[in-house]
Amino acid sequence: MRPSIINTVICLALLAAAAAAQPSRPIKPGDIGFDQRLDEQVPLDLAFRDEAGKTVRLGDYFNHKPVILAPVYYQCPMLCDQVLNGLAGALKALSFVAGKEFEVVVVSFNPRETSELAAAKKEGYGRAGAAGWHFLTGDPKPIDALTRAVGFRYAYDPLLNQYAHASGVVILTPKGRVARYFYGIEYAPRDLRFGLIEAAEERIGTPVDQVLLLCYQYDPKTGKYSAAVMKSLRLGGVVTVIGVVALLFALNRKAKSGRQGVKPANHCFLPFGALLIPFLPENASSFAGHVDALYFTLVGISVFFTVLIAGLEVYFAIKYRRRSPGEIPPKTAPSLSLEAAWIAIPFLICLVIFVWGASLYFTIYSAPKEAMEIYVTAKQWMWRFQHVGGQREINELHVPLGSRVKLTMTSEDVIHSFFVPAFRVKADVLPGQGRYRVVWFEPTKPGRYHLFCAEYCGANHAGMIGWVEVMQPQEFQSWLGGGGAGESMASAGQKLFQQLACNTCHKTDGTGRCPVLEGLFGKQVELQGGQKIAADENYIRESILNPTAKIVAGYEPIMPNFTGQVSEEQVSQLVAYIKSLGGTQQGAATQLGGTAPTGAPGARRSKPTGGQLQKSSAH
Ligand code: CUA
Repeated sequence: MRPSIINTVICLALLAAAAAAQPSRPIKPGDIGFDQRLDEQVPLDLAFRDEAGKTVRLGDYFNHKPVILAPVYYQCPMLCDQVLNGLAGALKALSFVAGKEFEVVVVSFNPRETSELAAAKKEGYGRAGAAGWHFLTGDPKPIDALTRAVGFRYAYDPLLNQYAHASGVVILTPKGRVARYFYGIEYAPRDLRFGLIEAAEERIGTPVDQVLLLCYQYDPKTGKYSAAVMKSLRLGGVVTVIGVVALLFALNRKAKSGRQGVKPANHCFLPFGALLIPFLPENASSFAGHVDALYFTLVGISVFFTVLIAGLEVYFAIKYRRRSPGEIPPKTAPSLSLEAAWIAIPFLICLVIFVWGASLYFTIYSAPKEAMEIYVTAKQWMWRFQHVGGQREINELHVPLGSRVKLTMTSEDVIHSFFVPAFRVKADVLPGQGRYRVVWFEPTKPGRYHLFCAEYCGANHAGMIGWVEVMQPQEFQSWLGGGGAGESMASAGQKLFQQLACNTCHKTDGTGRCPVLEGLFGKQVELQGGQKIAADENYIRESILNPTAKIVAGYEPIMPNFTGQVSEEQVSQLVAYIKSLGGTQQGAATQLGGTAPTGAPGARRSKPTGGQLQKSSAH
């Protein structure tokens, strides 16, 4: 017995009122209800009387259409009118019409009620589609047979001269089987619509209804349609798979048409040759192989455990299936060694991944000392490169084969990301007074490789692409010499140093108001408060753009802030100049391919010669 809660409450209230009037009343709460007799055949040959008093057969109303059956009695002072009002209201909002797609059969379960009463009732609901509404009365026997078949239980209270009863409507199929119950006195038009469509075995309704019905299902407990989670998930899964396959085919067609006349690149392809989508970019740097090895290891571990877990699930589902309805599995004690194993093994695997990944990370992001330096400035939407010899490039970078190239990168506006897939090098390039980002690589294959910005940086992000050209060392040398090589970065930095009047405070002989810069680079500097810091590119850059951040011990914070007065390119020139003034690192590399800075400071260089390029070309 599953009447709705409201209904139960109303029924019990009625009973309580009756009980108060007469304590010895015989009706028990169990006498009343509306049971689910889904799929029960309703006897269609039962005889009733219609509004005109004519004898009819119940089956007369089932003309290949579903029927909404409402058990009520016409003189009911309580719920029955509300059932009919609720039904009429819901049907008004329905695009189906009573008498056309379905019939409404209202049957009085009070055998003393007459067809006159039924006719009066029909009058009242005449506006709501009179043709499809039928108000029947009948004798105790057919009433009993019908209410039993649909599970409707009620009881007569002689003292109150009323029936205690549940409320709701039933949808019957065109063949007279019980299909759906809707309890209470209010019915959602959508639920009624779904119920009618399903009862009619989907011979009515629109394709939209069919799709909606995939996502909703009738819940017999509540008598309502609710979103069917599993059905929706399955539908979503099918749609996703179709979408992915369609996308793959579309991409493949595009790739094929774009490839015509172009020699296919030397790529590694996915096993399903038909799709021909490159699985990995070319392998053109010294650590590309290491990155790939780590990647394939991670993929391998994932595949191994995915297959293992999925396989065991299937195996266990079969092995430990329930063999009889009454089977109760034996109690098992958890195995301590098993638990220890599944803690220890994943832990060890994670440790291996961690150590391997971290060591690779540090290899890629800490440049070796003897590397050839290139300054990179990213801005919306281009990559600018400055060789220490002064050569400038935009969206193209020429590097010699086999030498180690260190990129010192910064951004003038927003975050960009420097990405050369063939080298397995990717690093975010950050704006502001923060640190330079450093990556390095050693190209192992001559050729032209794509350079991308891998961080969405505005409207033309997709156009912020370029090429890295790896040349034979001799070719690279002649490229360097072939025009465009103006002033070296250090020399440009020296000029700037004088233009900005830095030299009035940073004097070479130590008599200025600011620290001496000769021999500074790479040394430890003592700050106010005793902290020590290495004078590297980041320190010099910060000292120019935010001079008060770190004050050298023994000096006043008097240096003006140069943010906005010097471009990032100029900052890197100043850095190159200060590096050229000597220190523990090879400041001398900065003079390559261009004029060495002339003038006093240059003479103090600690390591005067030894071009990186000459070194690398000798490899
Ligand atoms: Cu720069 Cu995206």
